[in-house]
Amino acid sequence: MQKVVTVQRHIVEQERLYPKASGDFTGLLWDLTIAAKTISREVNKAGLADILGLTGEKNIHGEEVKKLDAYANERIIKSMEHGGHLCIMASEENDDVIPIPEEFPRGKYVLMFDPLDGSSNIDANVSVGTIFSIYRRKTTGKDASVDDCLRKGTEQVAAGYIVYGSSTMMVYTTGQGVHGFTLDPGIGEFLLSHENIRIPLKGKTYSVNEGNTFTWDEGTKKYINHLKESDTVTGRPYSLRYVGSLVADFHRNLLYGGIFLYPADYKDPKKPKAKLRLLYEANPLAFIVEQAGGMASTGKERILDIQATGLHQKVPLIIGSKEDVLTYEKFFNNR
Ligand code: AHG
Ligand code: MN
Ligand code: MN
Repeated sequence: MQKVVTVQRHIVEQERLYPKASGDFTGLLWDLTIAAKTISREVNKAGLADILGLTGEKNIHGEEVKKLDAYANERIIKSMEHGGHLCIMASEENDDVIPIPEEFPRGKYVLMFDPLDGSSNIDANVSVGTIFSIYRRKTTGKDASVDDCLRKGTEQVAAGYIVYGSSTMMVYTTGQGVHGFTLDPGIGEFLLSHENIRIPLKGKTYSVNEGNTFTWDEGTKKYINHLKESDTVTGRPYSLRYVGSLVADFHRNLLYGGIFLYPADYKDPKKPKAKLRLLYEANPLAFIVEQAGGMASTGKERILDIQATGLHQKVPLIIGSKEDVLTYEKFFNNR
């Protein structure tokens, strides 16, 4: 009989590789999978459950908050705050850090997350996702602080995402490769379906919101034009694939190869403006892509080397197959 590996078994087996591990981390990831399954259920019945539509509120980025964003955010906070694994959380949807309530024990880990990524796609039944990033606490004393969140991506101990697509998948890394699990709705378990994912060295597709062309720097414009010329390897131009949900675009590129770009907006050349968030989107996906053999860059610097200075800091994000990102950097730096 074929071996069936649930995500829980996988996490336990990974932790056994470290004889000193306390099992704390296993518990943390277990709580996260419960939140993921609950969000998956809500996303799947979104059209039925009168849950669509806006809450009427705006988040810190000035965007309208969809009901499912708010639901996913609450769900993760409520699933994670009581377990005794975390000392603090931060979410794309909260202006400030989320402390652990007094009544619960404090743990040694920090969790940061984008509860629902690609939320503008929900009403159209297009894939959305959840992204998470985990660090070990660095401050001492009773309560953790924002300093525990303002870190470099290289300090992450784990990162992952859940994509709510034609099936629900969870992909994660603890620095021992990247592993993917598909939710079997019949038994409610994530089962290992993609062991040790490696991103192809070079892809055939690019993912970018090309409607923004006129706001880009010259290097990015030249790079995208370059992709439209016949490729020396395939003899064909690159194909454009853009879902508009970072998780979904990233996931496809991780499996098939390719490059995702969200370059800065240079309308005011003195103040380039990025869109994607360092702590909740760029860092976790950068950790995953590097573990899978790919690269993540702003064009001039490795994403994981950026020291965060603000909870909602934004960065240009160029991520995917190594050769593609390296070629982008050449174009970007020879503007
Ligand atoms: P979120 O739904 O968490 O706010 O993220 C949206 C992000 C990301 O998922 C996607 O890649 C990007 O915004 C799309 O932006 P454009 O609509 O500007 O292309
Ligand atoms: Mn997002
Ligand atoms: Mn979001």
